[in-house]
Amino acid sequence: MIKTIKEILRHASLESKVVVGGWIRSKRDSKGVVFLDIYDGSQQGALQLVGDPSLFTPTLQRQLTPGASVLVNGIIRASQGRGQQKEVIIETIEVVGEAPENYPLQPKRHTLDFLRTIQHLRFRASTFRAVFRIRDKICYAIHRFFHERDFLYLHTPIITSEDAEGAGELFELSNQLGKGRPFFGKPAYLTVSGQLAGEAAALGLGRIYTFGPTFRAENSNTTRHLAEFWMVEPEMAFCDLQGNIELAEIFIKHIIKTVMDECPEEIAFLEKQEKFKIKRSNILLQERLVQVRDEPFIRITYTKAIELLQARQGKKFQYPIDKWGVDLQTEHEQYLVHKLGGPVVVTDYPKDVKAFYMRQNEDNKTVAAMDVLLPGVGEVIGGSQREERYDQLKAVMQEKGISLKKMAWYLDTRRFGSVPHSGFGLGLARMVQFITGVDNIRDVVPFPRTPGHAEG
Ligand code: 4AD
Ligand code: MG
Repeated sequence: MIKTIKEILRHASLESKVVVGGWIRSKRDSKGVVFLDIYDGSQQGALQLVGDPSLFTPTLQRQLTPGASVLVNGIIRASQGRGQQKEVIIETIEVVGEAPENYPLQPKRHTLDFLRTIQHLRFRASTFRAVFRIRDKICYAIHRFFHERDFLYLHTPIITSEDAEGAGELFELSNQLGKGRPFFGKPAYLTVSGQLAGEAAALGLGRIYTFGPTFRAENSNTTRHLAEFWMVEPEMAFCDLQGNIELAEIFIKHIIKTVMDECPEEIAFLEKQEKFKIKRSNILLQERLVQVRDEPFIRITYTKAIELLQARQGKKFQYPIDKWGVDLQTEHEQYLVHKLGGPVVVTDYPKDVKAFYMRQNEDNKTVAAMDVLLPGVGEVIGGSQREERYDQLKAVMQEKGISLKKMAWYLDTRRFGSVPHSGFGLGLARMVQFITGVDNIRDVVPFPRTPGHAEG
């Protein structure tokens, strides 16, 4: 079997024969030797191939351009050059697919805006190698974190007939079995969250997490919103808001630590990219990551947050904080993170700005909600302790006009063996944004879906 570059560099012994395939990053001729750098996605850096000029016919020379794919038989040697320990001496080389001069990814610095217009080819750009390798590592870290803590990975439905969560606008499915007969016998939608099903499961299995795609039909064209995004949603029985905040904090720290420990090359690469840009702040990627990994999160209540926002001197907010009870916007979240100097957990929001399932506090005005805000991206986690008391839950549902009949199954979980329980949702793409420092959410998702866009 063909070896990956990572396998060759990490495990293969010197002088052994290998077959390796990849895409050409660069080629140079120097003092009677030809050097080719190829990458294959298995690691951030390229592999250096070294060949005798006699191997390269004029046709081959013409075909060996950046982006062309090659298959090489060779021998692993200790490298003479700086920057790498091993290289491969070419015995035979074959161009598998040419990349002629109209190949859009010529070797120069491309903007992310340009690369977004060729999203099917951007997987070959080094920035995206780093981003998607880190995205993969984050997913792995998520699974490992929950498995080490007795959470079961559970799949909740993508198609749902519930429109109750209120997390966002729903995409509706229009299929019919016959004229006027909806496919599922009633209106059906793409899910906005796996939470409600996850709660039912946790009230029997104890600790579960869902991790899958969710959909919101909002016309939000921001750098932090997608119409389709992956969310991780743990749900934990016998857990109150404090336990939930603790879980969220160690979870985020665990993800960052795993990526820093296991993707140092990718992080170093992305940090170098940041240095090329004119930075808004002079705190570079690694320092931002270390802060969130090592320093305790700052906890404040919504009421305290409002006080801080109202006390702000100078510049006005676009959405003024004119009274207690308004929802927090991105600009407010950014201000809080900046003002408090690190990750912030805001708790106990007014019940009117949050979902029906959140547990009502004794003041009858606020609910046991929590949002985790990170520097730069703002909200990465939204969660709460759930209302486990049947009578209270029923009353809120009636107040909010939610059908008790349709949601009878959910109420059942509170009628029988109900227990305090809590959970949250982490937006995967926003976490990838934070860890990679990539500004636009469309650049941390392989094929982003936003209003007006569903290509590829
Ligand atoms: O705050 P949200 O809407 O919470 C829920 O859906 C709850 N049911 C979660 C739970 O308690 N189990 O969304 C959770 C997170 C947000 O904090 C954000 O990171 C991300 O999902 N998110 C989005 N990410 C990308 N594009 C969007 N349109 C997003 N909307 C939310
Ligand atoms: Mg939220």
